[in-house]
This record gives sequence, structure tokens and C-alpha cells, in this order.
Amino acid sequence: MKREPHLNNAALMARRRAALPSGLGQALEIFVDRAEGAEVWDVEGKRYLDFAGGIAVLNTGHRHPRLVAAVQEQLTRFTHTCFQVLAYEPYVELAERLNALAPGNFAKKSFFMTTGAEAVENAVKVARAYTKRQALIAFGGGFHGRTMMTMALTGKVAPYKAGFGPFPAEVYHARFPCPLHGVSVDDAIASIEAIFKYDVEPQRVAAIILEPVQGEGGFYVAPPEFAQRLRALCDQHGIVLIADEVQTGAGRTGTWLACEQWGVAPDVITMAKSLGGGVPLSAIIGRAEIMDAPGPGGLGSTYAGSPVACAAALAVLDIFEEESLLARSRTVGERLMTGLRSLADRHPTIGEVRGLGAMVAIELFKGGGLDQPDAALTQAIVQEAAKRGLVLLSCGVYGNVIRILVPLVASDSELDEGLEILGACFDALA
Ligand SMILES: Cc1ncc(COP(=O)(O)O)c(C=O)c1O
Repeated sequence: MKREPHLNNAALMARRRAALPSGLGQALEIFVDRAEGAEVWDVEGKRYLDFAGGIAVLNTGHRHPRLVAAVQEQLTRFTHTCFQVLAYEPYVELAERLNALAPGNFAKKSFFMTTGAEAVENAVKVARAYTKRQALIAFGGGFHGRTMMTMALTGKVAPYKAGFGPFPAEVYHARFPCPLHGVSVDDAIASIEAIFKYDVEPQRVAAIILEPVQGEGGFYVAPPEFAQRLRALCDQHGIVLIADEVQTGAGRTGTWLACEQWGVAPDVITMAKSLGGGVPLSAIIGRAEIMDAPGPGGLGSTYAGSPVACAAALAVLDIFEEESLLARSRTVGERLMTGLRSLADRHPTIGEVRGLGAMVAIELFKGGGLDQPDAALTQAIVQEAAKRGLVLLSCGVYGNVIRILVPLVASDSELDEGLEILGACFDALA
């Protein structure tokens, strides 16, 4: 079809509805023309502040010049060989740098995939190959992707699992600690003990997988004490502890990996999203002996760890060092939390302001009652914000959380502008 000279969002939405399946959701009816830093312009020329960052992909911002230069340079040399056929140095350098950045005083190895779901699939593969066990424990409210195994691990039925089963067997869900909704760390650990009692003996469990901060589930932060008790449980029973850092990783939470704040190290870590700064890339990083368990040819994929994506990820690492983005992640988080807390003081519908580093969220309740999640108001605020030029995302098991994943390169004035728009939306609607 010929491109129309003057594209507009409504006409493009009509074409989208006719040509694409409705299962492919769309949060906002906006079509992008170009983007830079923390700003996006749509096909009608309207400017938006991007507080969604492509769902946590743009910690280094849209089109960071250093990343663009690295990708362009790679494009002039070669774009694809398939790493398992003809290898290239940037893949190895990236693995070396990620191994060095991951917590834990033990030898590590890494390999690459393309999507977050593939990283999780492969974390499960190495854990099963190493332990020679089958069962997996994940958490209610967790999100790990849309492939069959990652849907099985995901702890939220609608919309992610409904209608798509049966899923791979031997996946059990424990409770994720969330004091706001009445689940303590003790309750969460007890729910794992209950799985050992009612469902599967610990000697058959290959791995426990958790997000250090549940992303799609609502930005609930796992307390370090919980991670430490999981570590002890895994050590006791020979279970592999997997941290799914697809959303939390690459500096979002104020450290390169959120699990650095646990005081204990996971055995395997998955990353994706902001690792490639907008170029699709995911990573599996783990204890060398676990990563070496699958036989030759057991791991890999045609496009995985593409040279273009590796060049982008190396640029992301350089940008973090050169621009001190980890420190910036913490100050961005503090500025957002301060602004959101003062908004919550004015609007009791905001029941909680929480976060880790620059991964922050507010949770909305009708009349401030914690038993009445307000998904309708959450959606209304997201849509109103877009009209006023701010891109926001909702999330949460109850659909009542507004999350912020703004690029870490956003200026203070851009952060304040976004907070002001959000405040105006609450003044208008809450
Ligand atoms: C924690 C977590 N794991 C896995 C995934 C799946 O990643 P992808 O959509 O790249 O397959 C996501 C995506 O949001 C995620 O947040």
C-alpha cells in the first residue's frame, strides 16, 4: 500500500484494526514518527514526554548518539553471520563485561538471545540440564513472557494465559511478598514450603524464578530478606535461583542489576529490554558450571546475539560509565518519588508510592480503601495524560498501578514537566 503523505493517528488506527489481530493490544492510539532522548513526536507532529520508555527498553533514551554511531559502524562491516557459524569479537566482549558486572564471587558465563522470553526459556534449560530435575517454582503476579514455558511461569491468567493452555507441566506458583495486599515475607516462604508439602518434593525442583521487582505484576519490590531466605532454601535443596531482570536490569533500579541490592547472588540472571538500548537483545548470565551443563548445540538461535545488537549493548555499557547513569537512576528515582509523594498528599486515591531506583509506581484505590483497586481511574489517567502529551503505562494484578520507566537521560525539567502533567490529570479526574 502507498504511504499517505499526511498520516494521522485515526486513519492509521483504522488500518491497524483491519490488518492486525485484536489480541495485539495497543495502550494508546498514537503512531510515532520520530523520537529522541525522552521525547517522542507522533505522525501528526504532536510532542510527548515518554515516561514508558518502550516498556523499560530505553534507559539510555531514544537514539542515544553513541548507540546510533556504534550501530551504524557495525552496519558498514557485517550484519549477520550466525554466531554459532562464524563468530565475532563483540559477542565475546559483551559476555566478558556482563560476567564481570553480575554479583557473586564465582566464575560466570553468558550467552545471548533476542527477547526476554527466550532468555527465560534458556535460563530454565540450563537449570534443568544442570540439576537433572524438572519442576519450577514461580510467583503469583509474576510475568516472564508469552512463549509456552514463560506463559506457564507467568502468574497472571488474564490476559496472558487465558485460552492458550495447556502449558508445560511441573510449574508451581508461590505467593510473592506484598505487605500492601497482606502477604508478608513469612507468608511467601510458607507458600513455598506448602508447595514442597502438597505438590512436589524439593529434590525434584530445578529452579525458583523471581523478578526482583515485579514488573507487569505491579512494581512490588522483593525485600532483600526475601531473596536471602530464597537463597538459603535453594542452597538447602540444591535448587537453582534465577533472577529475571528483564525489566529491572540495565540500571533501572539504581544498580546495574537489582539483585546487587539483595546481599546474596542468584545463580542465573536473565536480562533483555534496556540491555540493547532499543535493539533487540537478551542475555543469560550465570554460574559457569550451570551454564556449561547443556551439551554442544543445545543452546543457540539463528539471530541470537546479532552483531548489531552486541554493538548496541556495548555502547549502552559505555554510556552508563561515561554518563554515570547508575547515579542518575537513583536521583531520577528520588525526584519522581518526591513529586509523587506530594501528589499522593493531595489525592488520597493514591494508596501507595513505591519503587526501587528509577522504577517507581503509584497504586490507585477508590476512596483510598486498600480493598478497592481503581483500575478505571488508572486507565482514565493514562489516556488523559496522553492527550496532555505524557506517555504513561499501567500495570498490576488489579490493573490499578501507574508505572514510570522514563529514560534515565531525561533532564530534571522533563521529569518535572511529566509530574506536572500527571498532577493535572489527577486534578481533572480524581
Ligand atoms: C520480567 C520480565 N520477564 C520477561 C519478559 C518478556 O520479555 P519479552 O517481551 O522481550 O519476551 C518481560 C517483558 O515485559 C518481563 O518484564
